[in-house]
Amino acid sequence: MDDDEFRAAAGDVIDYIIGYQRRIRERAPLPAVTPGYLRHLVPAEAPEQPDSWADVLADMERVIQPGMTHWHSPQFHAFCPLANSPPALLAEMLAHGLSCVGLNWEAAPACLELEMLVLEWVAKLLQLPDAFMTRTGTGGGVITGSATEGVLVTVIAARERALARLRAADPELDETVARGRLVAFTSCQANPAIQRAAATAEVRLRALPTDSECSWRGDTLRQAVEEELAAGNVPIYVVATLGTTSTCAFDRLDELGAVCRQHEMWLHVDAAYAGAALICPEYRHLLQCGVQDVTSFSFNAHKWLLVNFDCGLLWVRDASQLAEANRIDAPYLDTAETTLPNFRNWSLALGRRFRALKLWFVLRLYGVSGLQEYIRGHVQLARQFEELVRRDERFELAAPVSMGVVCFRLRGAGNAATAELLRRVSEARRVYMVKTELPTGQLAARFVVVSRVTTDRDIAVSWEEIRRHADAALSGAAADSDRPPAVQPTGHVETCTCTTKRNGFMTDKTVSERWRMLMLLHKVGYRGH
Ligand SMILES: Cc1ncc(COP(=O)(O)O)c(C=O)c1O
Repeated sequence: MDDDEFRAAAGDVIDYIIGYQRRIRERAPLPAVTPGYLRHLVPAEAPEQPDSWADVLADMERVIQPGMTHWHSPQFHAFCPLANSPPALLAEMLAHGLSCVGLNWEAAPACLELEMLVLEWVAKLLQLPDAFMTRTGTGGGVITGSATEGVLVTVIAARERALARLRAADPELDETVARGRLVAFTSCQANPAIQRAAATAEVRLRALPTDSECSWRGDTLRQAVEEELAAGNVPIYVVATLGTTSTCAFDRLDELGAVCRQHEMWLHVDAAYAGAALICPEYRHLLQCGVQDVTSFSFNAHKWLLVNFDCGLLWVRDASQLAEANRIDAPYLDTAETTLPNFRNWSLALGRRFRALKLWFVLRLYGVSGLQEYIRGHVQLARQFEELVRRDERFELAAPVSMGVVCFRLRGAGNAATAELLRRVSEARRVYMVKTELPTGQLAARFVVVSRVTTDRDIAVSWEEIRRHADAALSGAAADSDRPPAVQPTGHVETCTCTTKRNGFMTDKTVSERWRMLMLLHKVGYRGH
């Protein structure tokens, strides 16, 4: 493809994208194909001779579009928003045009320095303390591929910090025993990604119950920490969620922070979706109420901040702990001395894309006011949907409406009816929602405002489609009485535990080893009181 052909083809692509987005309402959000559809449409071998551009472009409609779930349809209400904006698309094109890999400063100075700058811009919008900024503190921000990556690198840092403390207190420390004693905590409403990250870092994770509004409280954490201490284990790491995936509930950061401070645990805040809303002054208190105790904070700009996938943002209070624990070195990575951070030691991959460019373009071309307006618009649309649910007596809200998330169900009809409603809605393909399960065992339909182009009218269209299936779902569903509410545990606070193989041996520990660990904990300062 020469320059002229490239220019013409690029024009075709831009026209295609504009046309696709402009006519998005003409496509049902869910595709009609069945698994394996694509194999019937393309040859089994790669072409021996080059295909023509016209044929390749035509196959977007023939091969690709039939198998697309349209995330940007205003009738797509599943999962979380997935950002998609013209400024981010332009930046992605440029980033791929320049095509560099940010291994270190020398390999891509602009890539590193712009990343530092835009992370600082956003940190200021969130009002993160100065400590989280490279220029003014010990910390800084970095772009990751995902929220999971943010948890993984921080739990590794917390693990290494704890082991270093234990080693310093006891040079004879049996590291294998000590590793098996480490324990992390989150809530049962936390995203399963937290479990995977902890398991990958080989740190045992306890998922603790929440209150009736799905918010994780300090007392529950305190009790679990005390149990672990009494058993000779070492509590090291806590993940609080601001905006859970299921109902967008907010954990009580003020209460959890106090427990983390008392027990010197690393407090990571996962605000993957709702973190973007913290750029609006009216939501900042959700973080500010406990920010002084937060060790690391992350959210995905690619969810609700109009920056195309992927663009996870992670800030840490002490970057040296993160960098030391996740350090990778090789002779060919050595470069001229610089005081700037080496982001390859702050995140998982060695090779890093120029993702800061799209965040920079979005911040500049929307401006803070434009982004705030966008977020407030989604919240408003969710309120509109909430009102429609409230007005129809066949439905009820299943959880407090939060940000752009509305969880609702068929009133008094049991889980089977709500499941049947979701099945019917999905089968019709005009609206897409997914289900969630509340701590009470109740099933709910989860309606999320996702698309950037959603209007009042779109919300009304989605609601009409949902309510159209209500009567059939109510009569079609087998009479399934609700499961009784889950009994809140009284003594041992735990509803699910994620253990790794390595931790399996812990039950075999001898009494003397346990005693030795207890003594060591006392010496290091991991005290219950
Ligand atoms: C609260 C929360 N945490 C973590 C995740 C996982 O995010 P990622 O896919 O970026 O790892 C999600 C995904 O939706 C989420 O909502």
